[in-house]
Amino acid sequence: MCSSTLGRGAASAYLSRMRVIRVEPDAPDRKALRDAAQAIRRGALVAFPTETVYGLGANALDAAAVAAIYAAKGRPAVNPVIVHVSGVDMARALAGEWPPLADRLAAEFWPGPLTMVVRRGPDIPDVVTGGGDTVGLRMPAHPVALALIELSGLPLAAPSANRSSQVSPTTAEHVVRGLGNRMAYLVDAGPTSVGIESTVVDVTGPAPRLLRPGMISALNIARAAGVPVVEAAPGQPAVPRSPGVLGKHYAPGGRVLLFESGQGEGAVLDARGAMERGVRVGTIVFAPLALRGVHQHIMPRNPGEYARQLYATLHRLDDAGCELIVVERPPATPEWQGVLDRLHRAALPGADNAG
Ligand code: TXA
Ligand code: MG
Repeated sequence: MCSSTLGRGAASAYLSRMRVIRVEPDAPDRKALRDAAQAIRRGALVAFPTETVYGLGANALDAAAVAAIYAAKGRPAVNPVIVHVSGVDMARALAGEWPPLADRLAAEFWPGPLTMVVRRGPDIPDVVTGGGDTVGLRMPAHPVALALIELSGLPLAAPSANRSSQVSPTTAEHVVRGLGNRMAYLVDAGPTSVGIESTVVDVTGPAPRLLRPGMISALNIARAAGVPVVEAAPGQPAVPRSPGVLGKHYAPGGRVLLFESGQGEGAVLDARGAMERGVRVGTIVFAPLALRGVHQHIMPRNPGEYARQLYATLHRLDDAGCELIVVERPPATPEWQGVLDRLHRAALPGADNAG
C-alpha cells in the first residue's frame, strides 16, 4: 500500500487535492482505507473499485453528497444511482418492501454483480432515486467496496466513476482520465475482474424484470427465481423503467460499427473507404481483418474474459484517436447477453443522457 497525491509537475497542480490510496485487491489494508471512510462520513466523494467497474461513491443517506456525484459526472437528475450495501440486513433497512424474490436472488447472487430494484424506504433521499419510488440495491463482491461500507458504517451511492455517457472505468487510470480530481479520494486496487456493470433487475412485481443485462444472465436469474424473467427482445437495448439505459451509453469517442461474426468482408470495405477519407480505424475482433495500419484488438472467445477486457480496449482505442471502431459481434447466447448489450449501445447513433 502507499498513499500519495497523484501526478508530478504540471499535472500535480490540477490533481493536488485528490488523495490516491493504493491497496491490494484481495486483502486491502483497512488502516489505509480509514481516511477514505472518514471522508465519506463527512460528505465527500470517494472513487473505489467494485468487481464490475470503479464507482464514484458517497453517503447514500446524505442528499448533498449524492447531488455532488451527479455534478461531478454531469449526470441528468432523472437517472437514479445504485446504493451499495453490506448485505441483506442493510438492504432490508433501506427498502420499503423486501419481497421473497429479493431474498431468493440475494441468496444466490450476493455478494456479486446483481442490482435489485425494490420499493424505497423513508431513509433514501429523492436525489438517489431520480424522484422515483424505487431504489436499486447491490452488495458488491469486491473487498475494498465492502470494507468502505463497513468502515464508514454507511450505504454507498455509487454510479460508475465516469463522466455521463462515457465508457465506464475498469482501472484507477480510467477514473482519473474521465473525472480528473473531482473526488476527495481515489482507491486504486488495480483492474476490476468482471469488467462490465452489474445486471439490474426489478423485483417489485411477481416476475423479475431485466432492466440492464450483465454477466449474471436473465437465464441464471430465472433459474434462481423459479419464474421466467421479463426482458426486452434480443438485440433491443431499450428497456423501460431504467432511465439510465434508454439511450446510447458506454460510448467511446469513435463511431462503432458492428458486423456479423465471420462476415468481415463488408466491414473491411467500409473500413477501407473510411481510411481513404483519412478516418482513423480500429477493430475489436476474434480474428484480424484484412486491414493494414489499424489498431486491431483480438478478443478472447470466452465471454467472461471478453467482458473483463472490453472497456480497457475501448479506452485504448479512444486514446489512439480512433474515429471508427469495427467490432465483430459475439454470439447471441445467454452468456454473451451483457457484452452484446454494451456493444449495441455503443453502436447506437446520436446523443445520450445516461450515466
Ligand atoms: O456494476 C455496477 O452496477 C456499477 C458499480 C459501481 O456498482 N454501477 C453502475 O452504476 O453501473 P450506474 O449509475 O452507472 O448505472 C446504474 C443503472 C442505471 O442504468 C440506472 O438507471 C439503473 O441502474 N437504476 C438505478 N436505480 C434504479 C431504479 N431505482 N430503477 C430503475 N433503474 C435504476
Ligand atoms: Mg454508468
